[in-house]
Amino acid sequence: LSHGLGKALVQDVASSEVGVVFPETPLMEVRRVLLQSNLGFVLVGKNRKNFQGIISRMLLFQHLPEAKVGESRRRIRLESMMERKISPRILTILHAVRQLAETMELRPYLVGGLVRDLLLGRENTDVDLVVEGDGILFSRELQKVLGGTVRTHENFGTAVLVLPDGFKVDLASSRTEFYAKPGALPTVQQGDIHHDLYRRDFTINAMAVELHPKHYGRLVDRFGGNRDLDAKTIRVLHSLSFIEDPTRAYRAVRFANRLNFKISPETSTYIRVGVRKKMFRHLSGDRLLREVIFILMENRPLGSLRMLSQFGLLGVLHPSLKLTGGRLGLLNRIEQVLDWYDALPYRLEPLLRWQVYFLGLMEGFDKRQAESLLNRLAIQGRPRKFFVEARAQYRRLTTVLQKPKLDSAANFTACSPIRPEFLLYTSAKTTSRDIRRNIGRYLTELSRTRLEITGQDLKDLGIPPGPAYSRILREVLRNKLRGEISGKTEEIAYARVLAGQRKFGG
Ligand code: CTP
Repeated sequence: LSHGLGKALVQDVASSEVGVVFPETPLMEVRRVLLQSNLGFVLVGKNRKNFQGIISRMLLFQHLPEAKVGESRRRIRLESMMERKISPRILTILHAVRQLAETMELRPYLVGGLVRDLLLGRENTDVDLVVEGDGILFSRELQKVLGGTVRTHENFGTAVLVLPDGFKVDLASSRTEFYAKPGALPTVQQGDIHHDLYRRDFTINAMAVELHPKHYGRLVDRFGGNRDLDAKTIRVLHSLSFIEDPTRAYRAVRFANRLNFKISPETSTYIRVGVRKKMFRHLSGDRLLREVIFILMENRPLGSLRMLSQFGLLGVLHPSLKLTGGRLGLLNRIEQVLDWYDALPYRLEPLLRWQVYFLGLMEGFDKRQAESLLNRLAIQGRPRKFFVEARAQYRRLTTVLQKPKLDSAANFTACSPIRPEFLLYTSAKTTSRDIRRNIGRYLTELSRTRLEITGQDLKDLGIPPGPAYSRILREVLRNKLRGEISGKTEEIAYARVLAGQRKFGG
């Protein structure tokens, strides 16, 4: 009701799986059933038609004392795993946290992506801590030990500690969000770590590692995150997860593609229902764009785009955004061109890779469709201009570059004002080998050509400073690109010749 779903059908928002336990089933067994099946509740009785009561997962976890089974073994495993796999830089921080936890008698936990990636053996350097108790106070004390500066957000109970070398540590007070009354905004309250984990997106992201010395390295995993890592599955914690935060659908796809996991059947159903119920309409352009950028910045995002398309989540961006053969072909070629660019042996400009893919997604859109896509994603300013002008830009650029033996200086002049993202897109889109060769030549060779002389050398030649300087330097560069001069002496000699000519101010 508080999500405005008063008229929705129960089957659209709740899992249809039902678990049953007998009244004499031990609670630890109920816990196992709830964890393994990922059910939100179980019925207590003889069968699903004949039951006397109900136990919800939340209720069980609130009342069950700290679980015991197998935990000491797990603790040892994670502690040594942490020492081996986490970078020394982060370990120093965790050790300081451990010590402070004892002094302050608070319970801090490592949470989120780092825990997931630790268990997967993947690198991650985002240190997210949740403190049972006052996270802000903890961050201030930690700052006294490690140095740096603290920025706090009192309203949210969160803090960021920026260490002297710029490394960031995020801290939060464990919290729970609940709806005080239907339709109201969620109220944030201090809660324990289990409540904090329960409001997270997927089981694999809802684990924590305890950092208090008494239980250092113990994995807190109440929703079967570790099991889902083994099963390579992305699973939400409950059926309303996407209603609470629709961006999670895009996150699910991103993680599935990155980790090569599948999205569990119920989770997939919740996404489909969300799409059918037009739940994603309420997502703001900014938030949607953020998710799209995150997806397109990952390595090889094509798998994600396919999955988004299957779920109907591309259609949320624009109803005509389909992965047609033409668009898919272009996106594939973009992936190849970006691989080529990454493999170049020298450092070129870092790319806004998402923009290259986004140009590919917009392929075939007319002006009106492009505008409406850009509006939906609230793309403004420079990126908007970049996308709006893409068609005309492509035409201009390819007209100049479509020459088998294009003069190097002309090649340079055509390409240098254009962003490398656009050059790579053009290279992927064009069918002309000449254009591809010219762009390749510009990116690998011409764009890296530098003059050895500077304005100071012109000054030393006695040329009066003024606008002529840039004209002369540009012309010397053009000649160098053509291979007609090389080395500083020749550059100076040519500059002197140019300085004598009227059009260069002589
Ligand atoms: N989180 C969530 N719902 C969201 C966003 C984040 O529950 N919509 C939680 C998850 O527990 C997640 C943590 O916040 O693990 C940190 O979020 P973020 O940094 O976005 O994700 P990571 O899991 O760290 O993933 P990445 O490797 O992409 O940084």
